Amino acid sequence: MKIEDYLKSLPENIVSGEDVQLTNKSFREIFEFVNLGGKDNFYHLGCGDGKGIVIALEEYHVNNAIGIDNDENKIKQAKNNLIEKNLSAKLICEDIQNSDISDATVILFWFTDEKIINTMMKKFEKLNPDTKIITIWGPLSYCLPEKVKFPYIINKIPLKKASSLQEQILAIFGVKCIDFVTAWEFAERYTKAIGSTVENDRFLTIIQTLTIWINAKNLGVSCGDEIPESIKTYINIMKTHFDIDFEYLLQE
Ligand SMILES: C[S@@+](CC[C@H](N)C(=O)[O-])C[C@H]1O[C@@H](n2cnc3c(N)ncnc32)[C@H](O)[C@@H]1O
Repeated sequence: MKIEDYLKSLPENIVSGEDVQLTNKSFREIFEFVNLGGKDNFYHLGCGDGKGIVIALEEYHVNNAIGIDNDENKIKQAKNNLIEKNLSAKLICEDIQNSDISDATVILFWFTDEKIINTMMKKFEKLNPDTKIITIWGPLSYCLPEKVKFPYIINKIPLKKASSLQEQILAIFGVKCIDFVTAWEFAERYTKAIGSTVENDRFLTIIQTLTIWINAKNLGVSCGDEIPESIKTYINIMKTHFDIDFEYLLQE
């Protein structure tokens, strides 16, 4: 089975990320990294149940917290969570593509849908200088990150365009080329930051490692021409024990 077919077999809401919530630990790591504080107008786009908004208000004492989500039930839940804590914030039920975010100083934006990203890029480009947009796993399209604490990435206005995908990738990983160790280390950081259960961590890390390394190889930014022994071993393990094929992804 090709890796894409395996991913297609997983529940739609999991793969789309629709029902994936960041953990409180992740929110705190992100807020520390972006140095969130009393002067900030913080926007959480796709705020879900509002846990990020609660933490931004309670622990980081932001000037304003605005949560936007197009799911009515999630916004209801977010409102309840805030009432329970006696906190006040603007919680808006709408498509973020229609939102006014012009007074933002810090934005948390974790979306992979290309159409949404393209629409939002036009809004982001018009934001005030020094506004920070935090993305997860990769920077905004065709942009160089301002700061990286993988998997968290700060993009800063005005956005800096990358001259190539290769330059963008090497900026994310902060290396001259990507070897097995880098791919594994970054894959592990991602699973640890995003994962909520521990049982499948190793499996996810292997999938992420192979994806990172194979993409790097195909883009010409892996170290050396040979496929490292560890990558070969993991490709074999995935094939033999899980019937998941990665080899076909390797371009000649
Ligand atoms: C972390 S976001 C990412 C999901 C998205 N499908 C993606 O990867 O591009 C998930 C949250 O965003 C919300 N959401 C998804 N699309 C949205 C939109 N167009 N406007 C506002 N909220 C949205 C969902 O209800 C959910 O709470």
